[in-house]
Amino acid sequence: MNLKDLYINFFVSKGHKQIPSAPVVPENDPSVLFNTAGMQPLIPYLMGEPHPYGTRLCDYQKCIRTNDLDSIGDTTHHTFFEMLGNWSLGDYFKQESIEWSFEFLTQVLNIPIERLGVTIFKGNDILPLDEESYNKWLSLGIKKERIAQTEKDNFWIAGEIGPCGTDTEIFYFRSEEEIPEVFDPEDERWVEIWNNVFMQYYKDDKGNISELPKKNVDTGMGVERTTAILEGVNDNYLSSIWKDVIELIEEISHLPYAGHEKSMRIIADHLRTAVFISADEAGIKPSNTDQGYILRRLIRRAIRHAKKLNIDISSDWEQLIAQKIIDKYQTYYKELATNAQVVLDGLAQEKLKFSKTLEKGLKEFEKVTKDNQDIDATMAFRLYDTYGFPIELTLELASERNLKVDEEGFKEKFKEHQELSRSASAGKFKGGLAGNSEIETKYHTATHLLNAALKEVVSKDVHQRGSNITAERMRFDFNCDHKLTPEELQKVEDLVNTWIKQALPVTKKEMNKSEAIATGAECMFIEKYPDVVTVYSIGDVSKELCGGPHVENTNVLGHFKITKEEASSAGVRRIKAVLQE
Ligand code: SER
Repeated sequence: MNLKDLYINFFVSKGHKQIPSAPVVPENDPSVLFNTAGMQPLIPYLMGEPHPYGTRLCDYQKCIRTNDLDSIGDTTHHTFFEMLGNWSLGDYFKQESIEWSFEFLTQVLNIPIERLGVTIFKGNDILPLDEESYNKWLSLGIKKERIAQTEKDNFWIAGEIGPCGTDTEIFYFRSEEEIPEVFDPEDERWVEIWNNVFMQYYKDDKGNISELPKKNVDTGMGVERTTAILEGVNDNYLSSIWKDVIELIEEISHLPYAGHEKSMRIIADHLRTAVFISADEAGIKPSNTDQGYILRRLIRRAIRHAKKLNIDISSDWEQLIAQKIIDKYQTYYKELATNAQVVLDGLAQEKLKFSKTLEKGLKEFEKVTKDNQDIDATMAFRLYDTYGFPIELTLELASERNLKVDEEGFKEKFKEHQELSRSASAGKFKGGLAGNSEIETKYHTATHLLNAALKEVVSKDVHQRGSNITAERMRFDFNCDHKLTPEELQKVEDLVNTWIKQALPVTKKEMNKSEAIATGAECMFIEKYPDVVTVYSIGDVSKELCGGPHVENTNVLGHFKITKEEASSAGVRRIKAVLQE
């Protein structure tokens, strides 16, 4: 049985409910492009909202981190990875959390206790030493020399603001060398495998720490790293997670992994991430903004490295690799099976687009650097604009030849270009606001009305869980414990239409975040918004934090009609609706 199954079975046996992985593209969080940690989709519940599955949860969560793309190619970094997690939402706390982690590691994974070291919170001016965790580890047989205390590394928060707490981290001695008596977390032979965060605090934008309504536990364990450890390999790409993908790349390129590790790892990693991004229900396609741009960069970089391995780019190499990844993961992530064709076609199209200019662009690059000249802003922009080279690709090519690139100059030119084409403004507040055509703008305002109507008709505790707008329809997800009755749907529809007919003005106001909250404005993930926020009000029926844009008056919206009401996920319903002339 593999690690994911062992983990889920174990925590289910301890009374946890398995929750499905959330999409990699957060549906209603404007501040991040991708889900970066297992706890991210659970923030509202860590903050106190009841979770429909109860108080003990476990999952494997798809995560994407693209902040250090340059590290990809080494033995341990991945842009996509899976995080195992178990949570207590005001249920058990330190005792059980530590006990079960210990039991899972030593009894299920059979890791010898001698190979384990742990860190705990040392204490500082604000919070005391975590004595409870210390004593618990001792009672389980971890020697005191193997319990290190740190301050900074044992306080966990995602970013600057939000739910947080002290943590205890579990390390594994990975080396063949003799295990030192005393555990030193700075010694690289010890690698962190699990992080148990005791989330009992909330940190606000002024740095103040207050108690959350409940004491929670949030743990995270990386699948790739732990699998490599259990299989005794020092290169993650030699573990069962990657081995067959690497073998396929060897077969396609007719080259051995040894000596070509970097390019093969980049191809394997980037294509896996591209598969997961394009299979996500958000429907991301390669583009020049936001998630689409990351997707484009990943595919184009993979293509460039395939070329380095002399793979015939026009062959179906990327289809074979993507198909292998889909086959490996589809039993865990159904969307890979459902959207397999979309993924494969998307890759093929992006490849086609890029191969048309890649060859010429590389020639151009060779030409301008033949006397080892650095790349100026004009050239970097030409490589981007004419040959489709993401700036990161130019940087990578340049660094392979020890040349510099005027990146700042490039950014300026890029900005000028964006302003000229006025095309890049839409993506920022992605909560469903994919575009800002006239009809999409109308749908956006209608979304606020629907949110307000649901609160009035169904329950004041209804909140937005996701939103997606196209020129054809709007889609709105919200928490709700039941299927809406035909009467409820009718009332919601009527109420929205009444407000539309009342010709309510839509007004916009900038204010401080705290001020906005005090007015009772609706929003999700308040901690993710900047200090100054925009609040849109519609008459006095709706007030929401939002990036806009909106229509000026509801009277231009036409007739609002609900076309579908269905389940989206546990405890979350989905409404699709249209605006008719
Ligand atoms: N939130 C913690 C982490 O990401 C534990 O899940 O490490």
